[in-house]
Amino acid sequence: MVSHDSKHFLRLGVNIDHVATIRNARGGWHPDPVRAAIMAADGGADGITAHLREDRRHISDIDIARLRQEISLPLNFEMAATEEMLEIALTHKPNAACIVPEKREEVTTEGGLDVHSGHNHLKRYVHELREAGIRVSLFVDADERQLDAAARLEADIVEIHAGAYCEAHEQRKPELRAQELERIKQACVYGQSLGLEMHAGHGLTFDTVKDVAVLPELRELNIGHFLVGEAIFLGLVPAIQKMRALMNEARTAAGLAA
Ligand code: PXP
Repeated sequence: MVSHDSKHFLRLGVNIDHVATIRNARGGWHPDPVRAAIMAADGGADGITAHLREDRRHISDIDIARLRQEISLPLNFEMAATEEMLEIALTHKPNAACIVPEKREEVTTEGGLDVHSGHNHLKRYVHELREAGIRVSLFVDADERQLDAAARLEADIVEIHAGAYCEAHEQRKPELRAQELERIKQACVYGQSLGLEMHAGHGLTFDTVKDVAVLPELRELNIGHFLVGEAIFLGLVPAIQKMRALMNEARTAAGLAA
């Protein structure tokens, strides 16, 4: 058994953005991402992640307000480093804010935040969020320079972008998959040595989760698109339960059980 209190427990954050994507395809209220967030707890989610994008293509301002009022799980608010998003974060005070890069034309968050070059711009955001008691996470590629910059900014957490690893898996490129996984591994070891709490996410599926879940430094995985897609076939709660079980199996097999 892996205990929630163990330093080896790996939390599962469920990203509900794409429940809102389906809702918005028709307008109206169905399916309700807040209902999905409530159900996610039954599946074993340890937290809920929602990204309020500048163009509001999925999650809306009302969703964020309702998530804050109606769910008991911790909320991880994904946001771009803009004045508008900072104000919203300071209003709702989520448990954590994950700063992500955002381009209007992208389909999803395509790469990590350039913390190294954007250090001066990000400084105020990290500071104000932390002053408000919000834990700050920076979504970065598995790159030591980015981790150094995140540590200099005194971010609490970095979330490593797992997209390149997952894409290599999907494209059936085993060598590239192994290389990308190795980069994530190295980044986790290095980031932890800098005192950063290590998370990972983006693109994870039933097939890719276990190799990441065994990394002992990781404390949280954030998974969304695949789970919402799989909910069509399995149902939301069973899909989350299956992801949770795979994470637990991987941790236990790696000797990370409490
Ligand atoms: N973590 C971060 C920072 C993200 O931006 C996203 C995508 O919104 C995810 C995790 C979840 O990625 P996916 O939806 O591909 O599982």
